Order: sequence, then structure tokens, then C-alpha cells
Amino acid sequence: MQTHIEKSNGKKPMKLFIKTYGCQMNVYDSARMADVLATIGFGSTATPEDADLVVLNTCHIREKAAEKVYSELGRLKVLRDQRKAAGGNDMLIAVAGCVAQAEGQEIQRRAPAVDIVVGPQAYHRLSGMVNRLLQSRGHRETDTDFPPESKFDALPEESAPQGPAAFLTIQEGCDKFCTFCVVPYTRGAEFSRPAHDVIAEAKRLSAQGTREITLLGQNVNAYHGRSPDGGTWSLANLIQELSEIDGIDRIRFTTSHPRDMSEDLIKAFADVPALMPYLHLPVQSGADRILKKMNRGHTRQFYFDIVQQLRSARADLALSSDFIVGFPGENDEDFEATMDLVRTVGFAQAYSFKYSPRPGTPAATQDDQVPETVKSERLAHLQDVLNQQQLAFNTEMSGSEIDVLFDREGRKPGQIVGRSPWLQATHVNVENAEAKSLLGEIHRVRISRGAPNGLIGSLILDGEVA
Ligand code: 5AD
Ligand code: SF4
Repeated sequence: MQTHIEKSNGKKPMKLFIKTYGCQMNVYDSARMADVLATIGFGSTATPEDADLVVLNTCHIREKAAEKVYSELGRLKVLRDQRKAAGGNDMLIAVAGCVAQAEGQEIQRRAPAVDIVVGPQAYHRLSGMVNRLLQSRGHRETDTDFPPESKFDALPEESAPQGPAAFLTIQEGCDKFCTFCVVPYTRGAEFSRPAHDVIAEAKRLSAQGTREITLLGQNVNAYHGRSPDGGTWSLANLIQELSEIDGIDRIRFTTSHPRDMSEDLIKAFADVPALMPYLHLPVQSGADRILKKMNRGHTRQFYFDIVQQLRSARADLALSSDFIVGFPGENDEDFEATMDLVRTVGFAQAYSFKYSPRPGTPAATQDDQVPETVKSERLAHLQDVLNQQQLAFNTEMSGSEIDVLFDREGRKPGQIVGRSPWLQATHVNVENAEAKSLLGEIHRVRISRGAPNGLIGSLILDGEVA
């Protein structure tokens, strides 16, 4: 990235620090914001201490996530004031992401130190906003538009390498309006990127050494993008095409809605070997009454049917999910129905949350809110069972041989960490000198042990355990 900057204007790069909260789409957006800012001379730094520009890429999904941003802004203001008082350089502070979109005005009131507020659909304009502030300070730049042009068309083609496993946003926004969720308001209506753009980006990633791509979207399996021949492709069509790209050995997608789990997509798990046997399929609740109040548009039986079809398409498919406990009106029986669903399906991994009322969403103003203590009890109970299931899933792998994509070094010398087909972090010890050379490669590993959060194994080279 820095060579690009020096080539473009010959000046010393300014320093950018981005802190990312929330979902994987924010991780992708942060990388793209760095690409945008590289075009005007910013290179990345690992801490805010020496940054000329700090971007907080925020999440609004639950209250806790949103509140964290304000505490971080408080700390940044202190840091900036201290640095300036000591004769150091100034710092621009930007709030991006879903808190920026949802609370633009509120940020102004609660955190006047913020210079830039930019929403998730407007960050391709970030370079202009920063340039104006670098020319003259003392005003605030705000852009929370949903511009008619797609940000994807305006983002620079040049991007910093993401490593062996990369995210690629193919779809954004949501039209489903679950009654607890802010996403349809913060990210806007469903939009699918044209297939040829996605393919071009996947080819660029592959050329930079990426072997595994996770296709991202708030409703990724509702993807219906323009195809190169002017028609429309489903997610299954797109996955098939992406699997033909040289170097792309693994494909995943997230997050899916049960209602959009179409037949052709289920069949892709049988037909496309590059599609990994692991699916994040949020169900939120196991009680029909609550699913209805959540406006999920399906029943528990519908979820069971989808799971069964998926498992007949691919016997080794593992599932992960999201759950909300304490949604307004949830009683003991409803919660027991969720526990029963969990026991019936069996999850390899899952995220679970206490319901958090979000301003502007229909469920927030319902008068049958569940007391915090009940929510906490239910969450602890649910997490207990989910953790047991995760440990059992990992433990069952011991003795098996699996393919692992190594994507990072471990904490100890000679330790490397990779991803199993089921997204388990897999730790392997090798000769110290060898460790780096294995990164970015897929190797066979014999699993010796499953742990709560992953696997431990040894490398098999030429049929021999190393
Ligand atoms: N309260 C708690 N959890 C929520 N989620 C979304 N909105 C809320 C909310 N208001 C959870 C859902 C979703 C995940 C990304 O976050 O489980 O799938
Ligand atoms: Fe939110 Fe529901 Fe849309 Fe998912 S499907 S982003 S939970 S509204």
C-alpha cells in the first residue's frame, strides 16, 4: 500500500488506524476504507497513538455494541488533546458504520470531538471528506446518504492483500424487517452486486494469494445479481462460477436466512466440492409463536426441513446459528422450544444474545418486555448447551485427517494456525523454520485433540505425520 502512496505523490504517508466493531461485513468495509484512503496518502498503523486519522467502524445491532463507541471516542479525545498539548500532530476522528448511520445527530451531541460521520453506503466518498478537513479544520463532515450510485463502482480497484482467507461482499441490506433488527434501517434495502464485479474481485484476491473466500451479505442467500449475459444469477450460480477460478479452493457464504435457502443452493453443497461443509443459518428462536412475533416468516418445522435437506445433500455438513433469548413475550415454554430445537439439530458453533431493544424497531416498544434477570438465566442455560455441543463436535474430530488452510502464525514459536473445512481454528506445531513457508497453503492434518474453541493436530507430509 505504501509503495502505491509514494508512487502517487512522493510524500511521506499519513497514518491511518481503523478499529472495527461488529460483523464480518464491517471487517470487509474497513479494508475497503483503507483502500480508499490509500489513494490520498494514508498507510496503516497498528495503534491510535501515532495516527493522523482514526476511524471507528461501528456496530449498532445491540445497545452494548453502540455504547462501546462512545467510550472509545472519549479515550480518543483525551489522546488527541494530550498529543497536541505535547506539541504533537493533530488527529482526525471519524465514525463510520451503522452507529454513524443510525445516530448521526446523536454523535454530534454526545461526542463533539468527532470530525467525520460517514455511513456504510457513503464511505467511497471518504477521501473527499478527509481532504476537505486537511485543508481547513473547524467543521464537521457528515455523509449518511444512500447515494444512487453504488459505492462498489466508486471504490478503487487496487486493494491491499487480505491473506489466505478473505471476505468479499456480494450483497448488502435487508428487506425482511425482523421486528428486533436495525439492519434494514442502517444498511438499507437489499442490493446485489453484479456477478462480473464479484468475479473480477475474486480473481484479484486469488492473484494476491487468497485461497478461501467468504461471500458476505446481510441476506447473502437472497443474492440475485446481474449475470454477465444480462440475466440474473442466484447465489448457487455465482458459487459455481467462482469455484472455477484458479486458486480459489474454498468458498463460504454468510449470513443466510432460512427462507432463502433455495433448492439450487442446497444442491450446491452436493455438487460444488469447493463449497465448504459448514453453514451459518440463524434461527433466532425455536418457538413458532416467537418466530411469528419476530416476523421471521417461517416455522420451526420449516427450519428442521431445511436442515434435513442440507444434510441429505452433504452428510458432513455442520451448522451454526444465532439465537435471541428474552424477546418480548417469550415465556418459559417458548424458551424450552428453543432448547429443544438446539438439542434436535445439534450445532457445531453458535452465537446467542439477550434481546436488546433497538430504537426505531417495532419490538422495542412492545409492553411485554422480559426482565433482565430472566434473560440472563436463559442465556446462561442456552450457552451451556451450545458450548457442550461445540466441544462434542470438536472432540469427535480426534483421530480424523482433515485439510487445513494455514492462515496465521500461532502464539508460540513454530506454531501455525489454520482453518478446518468446518471453520475450526486448527493448531499445529512444526519446525520453527518451516512455519512461515506453510502459510497460505492447504495441508492434511491428523487431529489429536478437540478443544472448546478448536482443534490440535499434526501435519501429514507425504503420508507421514510430521
Ligand atoms: N437484540 C439481540 N440480538 C440481536 N440480533 C439482531 N438484533 C438484535 C437485538 N435487537 C442478533 C441476531 C442476529 C445477529 C447478527 O444479532 O441473532 O442474527
Ligand atoms: Fe436483521 Fe432479520 Fe434482516 Fe437478518 S433478516 S438483517 S435479522 S432484519
